[in-house]
Amino acid sequence: MSGFSYIAGSLHAEQVSLTAIAEAVGTPTYVYSGDTIRATYRDFAEAFADRDALICYAVKANSNLAVLGLLAREGAGADAVSIGEVKRAVAAGVSPQKIVFAGVAKSATEIEEALTIGILQFNVESLPELERISAIAAARGLVADVAIRINPDVDAGTHAKITTGKKGNKFGIDLDQAKSVYAHAATLPGIRAAAVAMHIGSQITTVAPFEAALTRLVALAQELIADGHPITRIDCGGGVGIPYHGEAPIDIGAYAEMVKRVTAGFPGTLMFEPGRYLVGNAGVLLSRIEYVKQGSDRRFYILDAGMNDLIRPAMYEAWHEIISVRETAETPAPVDIVGPICESSCIFAKDRPMPPLVDGDLLAILSAGAYSAAMASSYNTRALPAEILVEGDQFAVIKPRRSLDDLFSDESPAPAFVTSGV
Ligand code: LLP
Repeated sequence: MSGFSYIAGSLHAEQVSLTAIAEAVGTPTYVYSGDTIRATYRDFAEAFADRDALICYAVKANSNLAVLGLLAREGAGADAVSIGEVKRAVAAGVSPQKIVFAGVAKSATEIEEALTIGILQFNVESLPELERISAIAAARGLVADVAIRINPDVDAGTHAKITTGKKGNKFGIDLDQAKSVYAHAATLPGIRAAAVAMHIGSQITTVAPFEAALTRLVALAQELIADGHPITRIDCGGGVGIPYHGEAPIDIGAYAEMVKRVTAGFPGTLMFEPGRYLVGNAGVLLSRIEYVKQGSDRRFYILDAGMNDLIRPAMYEAWHEIISVRETAETPAPVDIVGPICESSCIFAKDRPMPPLVDGDLLAILSAGAYSAAMASSYNTRALPAEILVEGDQFAVIKPRRSLDDLFSDESPAPAFVTSGV
């Protein structure tokens, strides 16, 4: 993982020691390398520099305003899946004309607010949604730009919980219904169907599924253009995977070569919605060992970070590399690395070879820049983890640790009841 390395026997983020961060703000704490995010974004953007391309960062991967602001300053747009994410993107400085709004359940209020903000396009997932957007826009004398998200029925070869482009998933409109939905869209007063979109899943580690899906999408776009639809953008979605456990990462040059080849006959804008690729390997979760417990048949490192802080191992059986902050060459032996939550699924690694460590030692859980802090909760009445952004030899607290009082100060043991009126 670039951005993180041992300097003088201690793990650093860029030039800042993780031990110093733990002392300053405590643990568990997410630490991101700004330089890594920027460099990764630039690689992605550079790969499409010879095409008209808009990179809409998938806000859900890591929605901290400091991360969004960094990417906005690089020129990124945003892919949002709630009005909350749209507002975060705007607050971070993303131009509304670079924001796409996706998601299967957009409410009328969300659609109204997004129209007021003036976003670039809605990525529409169903016929009733299309009609709702048209009605709301037309009532305000507006025409909303939309992409219909097509379900290309391609197996992305990823974890079942994050595959989205197979027939039977709740996402998008089936390819065989696409032309009739576009024909219907053309009759709606509040809609301009300006784009086609896809997103087939996340943590995809080969180019082949993208190529299969994009080939279908481009063929559809060309048929739609021939039928007179004003298609000027193809949204290729996100999904490019990262190495967590020695997987060969997708070479972004090879991905770009494929996209440019498959879309060669399309003169319009190419859009992308990368999330994990841009931030996943730019972050770690820094945690302290509270106890080393020797059971009769195994040894446990019990951390102060739990599944509420990082749920990916419990939810997807995800593998995260875990390393000692103090550099050590001592012989590793298998341990279980677990957290404090009262569930057996609160475990980060089983039988993981680790060096001998003691209470108070710090560990870094790697590849925790995406879908990590963003998915944290306060389950077990635990404060959300703090977040830190490092730039060179400086760091900033980008999410302070809240006091425990904040967790329940708006609740009451004797709440005031009101009559329901029914
Ligand atoms: N576009 C759409 C419409 C999406 O649904 C997603 C992610 C993305 C873009 C960004 O995908 P990425 O480039 O990050 O793969 N929580 C899971 C991942 C869920 C992904 C959901 N959709 C995890 O921790 O692995």
